[in-house]
Amino acid sequence: GDYTGRYRPQVHFSPPKGFMNDPNGLFVDKHGIWHLYYQYNPTELVAGNQHWGHATSRDLYHWANQPIALFPPDERTGVFSGSAVIDAKNTSGFFPDQDDGVVAIYTLNTPENQVQAIAYSRDGGYTFTPYEGNPVIDIQSNQFRDPKVVWYEDHWVMVIAHSTEFKIGIYTSRDLKTWSPSSSVSYLGILGLQYECPNLVPIPVKANGSSTGEQVWTLFISINPGAPLGGATMLYFPGDFDGYSFVPHDSAARLADFAKDNYAAQFFDGTAPGEAVSIAWANNWQYTNVLPTANEGWRSIMSLPRKNFLTRLERTGWALVSEPYDLSPILNSRLSHDTDFVNKTTDVDFSSAGSGAIYFSIKLPDSQARYGDEAAFSFAVSAPSSKESVKGGYMFGGPNAGHAWLDRGNTKGFGSDNPFWNDRFSVAQVSAARSIWGVIDRSVLELFIDDGAYSATMLFFSEEPLTLLRIGTEGMPEGTSIELEVHDLHSVWR
Ligand code: FRU
Repeated sequence: GDYTGRYRPQVHFSPPKGFMNDPNGLFVDKHGIWHLYYQYNPTELVAGNQHWGHATSRDLYHWANQPIALFPPDERTGVFSGSAVIDAKNTSGFFPDQDDGVVAIYTLNTPENQVQAIAYSRDGGYTFTPYEGNPVIDIQSNQFRDPKVVWYEDHWVMVIAHSTEFKIGIYTSRDLKTWSPSSSVSYLGILGLQYECPNLVPIPVKANGSSTGEQVWTLFISINPGAPLGGATMLYFPGDFDGYSFVPHDSAARLADFAKDNYAAQFFDGTAPGEAVSIAWANNWQYTNVLPTANEGWRSIMSLPRKNFLTRLERTGWALVSEPYDLSPILNSRLSHDTDFVNKTTDVDFSSAGSGAIYFSIKLPDSQARYGDEAAFSFAVSAPSSKESVKGGYMFGGPNAGHAWLDRGNTKGFGSDNPFWNDRFSVAQVSAARSIWGVIDRSVLELFIDDGAYSATMLFFSEEPLTLLRIGTEGMPEGTSIELEVHDLHSVWR
């Protein structure tokens, strides 16, 4: 793949060429190699002709593209989304003399039908053989897809979307070949027109920034179209799971992201107990097929890898915490550092960094200071000509205290004549944020508020590279300790 294109993110995954959507089959093996498969059309720059593309990494940032892992069996069949598990105990019988066998569980889509199939890999996930007994589940439905499998004490558990019935089916199995329907949940949260890509995984709980040792089974459901901001988004439901049925803790519909480009996240199989790691598709079905990267030969990217937790927020209860996975492999030079970043503005020119990718963070005191009406944080990345910019900020005081915002409206590469391209996003929280982190990577921005209790993934397309960061705080109480750090990021594709 040629990763030099102007819009090609340099610390986010994108396919070597062609079109990509959902992350699939995520697992980490016993050698610490992370496997990412993905919905892949290798022949065109729009969705269709679904294969499973494949890439591997030791740190979740530096990826090696691998040969395609799953091919459609014929021209009318797509290999749709699904998951993968390590069958260390050889429950399937595919792996008589190894403990690192991998089984992929996925949907085969034809115009008439969506059935579930499995394939096994004896070489650690590089090549797969479809099981001769496929399909393993066929309920004569054409809206039944995206199996995600996890191990629960003594059996396998699958969650799967009955998409247009707004139902998540729960199936169980001893051997990954024979599956029995166990229970289901339906009409949870915001319906939209379809449910897709469910995940049911234990998420570790944090309180006051540190792990409590507790884990809460959480059901994730992606909906499309029909998100509050239009198109695709992801919801989550913390609850109780006994290995057979799931009961959400409350009836709230919680959104995983407050912008528009985060969908179909999947959690890695094989992570250490108490560790939940996910990657989402950083895109939206409303405009993915027309984004202006076609002349670079590729379309669409994954989100940063994230470590996830649950935490309890004042008044609103459970919140999904998303932290960028350990950034140290990609952090390059510190371009700015100020431990007294109170009511100051700093300009950071990162045009010479080459990657065009940066990370910034501001840290605030834990003690809730009293903020005056004007107290705010803001940033903008601009083109040297100043004709374009992407902006964001956070209000610490005033009538909108606790609100974070993002604005991609002042960019000229895409959006102005697309009916679905929203420019502005915001979220509000009850208590003041103690941190704000941002990663800006050529055509994508990810923002993490309050140690990741709120996060946003936002694509943007400027005509000129945006290489000038202006970042500042104003109206903050004197004597507050605020720390600013800005780093440029290594390109992972060189
Ligand atoms: C979600 C989705 C899945 C399906 C796949 C097809 O984005 O629509 O439901 O399996 O994409 O590529």
